[in-house]
Amino acid sequence: MKNQLPRLQSFVEQNTSNIIVLADRHTLRDCYPLLGSEVRYILIPYGEIYKNLNSCEYIWKKLVEFGATRNTILLCLGGGVLCDMGAFAGACYQRGIRVVLVPTSLLAMVDASTGGKTGVNFLHFKNYIGLFSEADEVFVCPVFLETLPSIEMTNGFVEMLKHGLIADAKHYHNVKEFFSEDDKALDYQLIYDSIAIKKRFVDQDFRDIGLRKRLNFGHTVGHALEAHSLFINDENESISHGTAVALGIIVESFISHQESGLSADELNQITQVLQPLALGVKEEIPKLEVLMPYLLKDKKNENKKISFSLIKAIGESEHNREISVGLIADGLAYLRKLK
Ligand SMILES: NC(=O)c1ccc[n+]([C@@H]2O[C@H](COP(=O)([O-])OP(=O)(O)OC[C@H]3O[C@@H](n4cnc5c(N)ncnc54)[C@H](O)[C@@H]3O)[C@@H](O)[C@H]2O)c1
Repeated sequence: MKNQLPRLQSFVEQNTSNIIVLADRHTLRDCYPLLGSEVRYILIPYGEIYKNLNSCEYIWKKLVEFGATRNTILLCLGGGVLCDMGAFAGACYQRGIRVVLVPTSLLAMVDASTGGKTGVNFLHFKNYIGLFSEADEVFVCPVFLETLPSIEMTNGFVEMLKHGLIADAKHYHNVKEFFSEDDKALDYQLIYDSIAIKKRFVDQDFRDIGLRKRLNFGHTVGHALEAHSLFINDENESISHGTAVALGIIVESFISHQESGLSADELNQITQVLQPLALGVKEEIPKLEVLMPYLLKDKKNENKKISFSLIKAIGESEHNREISVGLIADGLAYLRKLK
């Protein structure tokens, strides 16, 4: 797959009067100029705390003010927060207008813009209100990454490592090299490889009732940590999505070692790679009792049991594993002990 910027620019040029861009302050400053044509835009605040129904209402009001119709194209120019929320708002407005995703963060490129999951957070639970609704088009242009802060790159790398862990050992090892070496420029081909892995799962299980759940490896604990952190801190002090998922991957790799046959050697390898992200926030890992309400609300659960996706080896995964509360507590204890 090639850089799609020229195709994006000609798409914008051909549809200037129909397009309304959704941007935040960062993407308006750094990404909007690369679209190449002047188009109308709606500016929303950046950040996970604004991923909610109030922001959607604001977007809908602005669409009404602009006189948007079913012919309008809402072009979501931003990271995962903006793409998830914009795609949801677009799918609901007048029962659905055209939505085009232009992911500008690494995480949004490799993860959020593929697979049709749209939505917002609700009552402190992640992505609790939303729709499965595929975008009409997605343009992946790695050139946008040139302005992305390095902490945000890390968030994307964690999801790319996860793609390798659940489905492709070679991809895991390739991504790990870039993740571990600060100054090594990312080979953009790895972005497209990650998207292809995600697509393989989505194509087999769009509604997320079976195989697709494996993409959630690391996210059962990760989402609980992230949601709790957002609940008790303001956004600047809360754990980032990537760090939360990295911690989740460490805990869930420990559980995989106990329950799914992941070898001690591979558990150590994974821990070593992700450990640097854990060290800064280890003190903030709450007790299991505190995380339980979030774990019990995980969307993968069935029959009030906490269900995990786990790995049997690097590159091999399984889903629908019910895990005891005691083992989850052991996993959190393993995380706290890391030096
Ligand atoms: N729909 C899905 O399948 C899916 C999958 C994974 C994650 N997600 C969601 O994605 C969200 C996290 O996304 P994220 O990590 O992209 O965070 P984000 O959307 O908050 O973006 C991170 C920050 O980077 C800025 N930014 C984005 N692109 C930039 C660029 N090119 N230059 C400069 N600044 C830029 C944004 O303004 C923001 O401040 C979470 O809400 C998560 O739930 C969705």
